[in-house]
Amino acid sequence: MRQCISPMPVRPAVLVTKRIYPEAVELLRCRYELDYEATDEGLTPEELLRRARAKQAIVSQLTDRLDETVIGQLEGVRVIANVAVGYDNIDVAAATRRGILVTNTPGVLTETTADLAFALLMAAARRIVEAHKFVHSGQWKCWTIDLLAGQDIHHQTLGIFGMGRIGQAVARRAAGFSMRVLYHDSVRVPEELERELCLEYAEPERLLRESDFVSLHVPLTPATRHLIGRCELQRMKPTAILVNTARGAVVDEAALAEALRERRIAAAGLDVFENEPHVHPLLLELDNVVLAPHIASASVATRRRMSMMAADNVIAALDGRRPPNLVNSQLWG
Ligand code: DGY
Repeated sequence: MRQCISPMPVRPAVLVTKRIYPEAVELLRCRYELDYEATDEGLTPEELLRRARAKQAIVSQLTDRLDETVIGQLEGVRVIANVAVGYDNIDVAAATRRGILVTNTPGVLTETTADLAFALLMAAARRIVEAHKFVHSGQWKCWTIDLLAGQDIHHQTLGIFGMGRIGQAVARRAAGFSMRVLYHDSVRVPEELERELCLEYAEPERLLRESDFVSLHVPLTPATRHLIGRCELQRMKPTAILVNTARGAVVDEAALAEALRERRIAAAGLDVFENEPHVHPLLLELDNVVLAPHIASASVATRRRMSMMAADNVIAALDGRRPPNLVNSQLWG
């Protein structure tokens, strides 16, 4: 049982910008004056600014755009606790300049996200969604030799961009399928880890040229925006499958839609989009793409843990302790 104690005589005030798991709400409510926006729509930047007045903490989500303009107007906020591992929705540099701690929720979602990346890879390779629609719509009349024939996963080459926690978890799954794994990252992982996971480091060009599957696990930064564009898609095999569970803007969505339509690559599995919840209209027409609504970390257990983790980050910050998942660590001595 977590103890419900208020460490300060005057209770700090916390804004939660949209619905999170109730355990986290209760944890915050018993310590702080809680302004809880219990909807899924969340707040516009204007509403967020208004509601953030006289608050010491904000629990945000990836749909909240905390850009320089918004952050520049926050008064008295000590911590922004994002309920996500990614924090490209927050201008961390602007927050740092204003002395606002930014936290995220790494680790807890690693395996869940890797599960979905692999699920998309398998669904696209083995045409699971097409098969489901085929049976469901009553089109199945007889067994034929090449009915919905897809591609093998076992013993194929998987190219991973980004060998952080999630990239590594995907590589572990690939080992179970006897896959060869190439990876690229701005920093090469230690040799020991390369050996343990049977990873082969490759420059992007070779990775794209040799991979049967390409899976993206990089954060969205100016350097990774449109990491996969027209040129990169052209380098991929015509039989290759692209999986994106990172951030939509890591891929040039229009270029990808075109490449899929023209069968310049075979298929894609996408959980993230450039302008969510908007999806490029061409992608909605194609059979060779499996689409999911940004659910890679969406198991009940993981989303609950992420909510609790954000609450714990707020509690640490408002208690004057270093939050366990501090992003702008330079603010901490
Ligand atoms: C994240 O955590 O960054 C995911 O995109 C949502 O779980």
